[in-house]
Amino acid sequence: MSYKDPINFDFTGKTAIITGGASGIGRLTGERFAEMGANVVLTDINAEMLEEVAEGIRAKGGKVATVAADIRKYEEVETVRDKAMNVFGAIDILVNCAGGASGRINKVKEEFRNWPVWALDWGIDVNLKGPMYLTRACIGDMIDGGRGGVIIYLGSAVGSRGGGGGSADYATAKAGLMFGMTKSMAQYGAPHNIRCNAVSPGPVLTREAMANTPTLLGRAADPIEVVNLITYLCSDQASFITGSNYAIDAGRACQHR
Ligand SMILES: NC(=O)c1ccc[n+]([C@@H]2O[C@H](COP(=O)([O-])OP(=O)(O)OC[C@H]3O[C@@H](n4cnc5c(N)ncnc54)[C@H](O)[C@@H]3O)[C@@H](O)[C@H]2O)c1
Repeated sequence: MSYKDPINFDFTGKTAIITGGASGIGRLTGERFAEMGANVVLTDINAEMLEEVAEGIRAKGGKVATVAADIRKYEEVETVRDKAMNVFGAIDILVNCAGGASGRINKVKEEFRNWPVWALDWGIDVNLKGPMYLTRACIGDMIDGGRGGVIIYLGSAVGSRGGGGGSADYATAKAGLMFGMTKSMAQYGAPHNIRCNAVSPGPVLTREAMANTPTLLGRAADPIEVVNLITYLCSDQASFITGSNYAIDAGRACQHR
């Protein structure tokens, strides 16, 4: 078995909402969860790519519903929750993959002292408020369903290390998810057997450029390595795990430079 092999659990009968489902880790999580029998609700702001991914899942016999939504807008986030409840009748798993560094995505290269305020807002809105909105929208139905559940936040090694002036919003948002949100929702969800954990990657090869980021082990992750950890944490085998942040970063968060 190689580190590029997927692990397998049975998610038959479980409904999983996955944000950022049009690309990268979210896309692979959706594809894998469908292969493992889950009812998958994929959402993303990129409607066209979202449909392409869903078509691929359906072609392999997977059960998938899609809803295009901007996670910065609470009323759109509610349509994701509604789609899951209307199509599959339950929400068991919420995996928050949508996100990314504002500077890279918005092509901002300013020093922090000149960083556009709209780009700061984008970083916090997408990476912190979005997952908080999803959780706020979905957790009531998870509780009312009475069968427990799992929430995963995608953090980042940058949330532990800091991101310098060029990624301050991203580092701050990710740290908020990895610690404040994860622990708060672990506490809030525990009486209902809803577990909440963060998965915090170092460089992942969803983009080739990530191969240039140094790690102690001298390589970036294959996306399946991150998806395998998400899979395990969502499975019943992880039933004693809640409130924790899991670094999966080849030592990036403890590298001295
Ligand atoms: N790739 C890495 O090296 C790496 C490292 C650490 C953490 N992460 C985190 O893992 C997660 C997934 O990363 P990835 O590399 O797969 O990213 P990706 O760019 O491939 O996918 C992110 C998805 O989020 C969607 N998205 C962006 N803004 C949105 C919005 N407002 N509403 C809804 N959807 C929106 C995008 O359309 C895209 O499909 C992110 O949260 C990222 O911060 C990635």
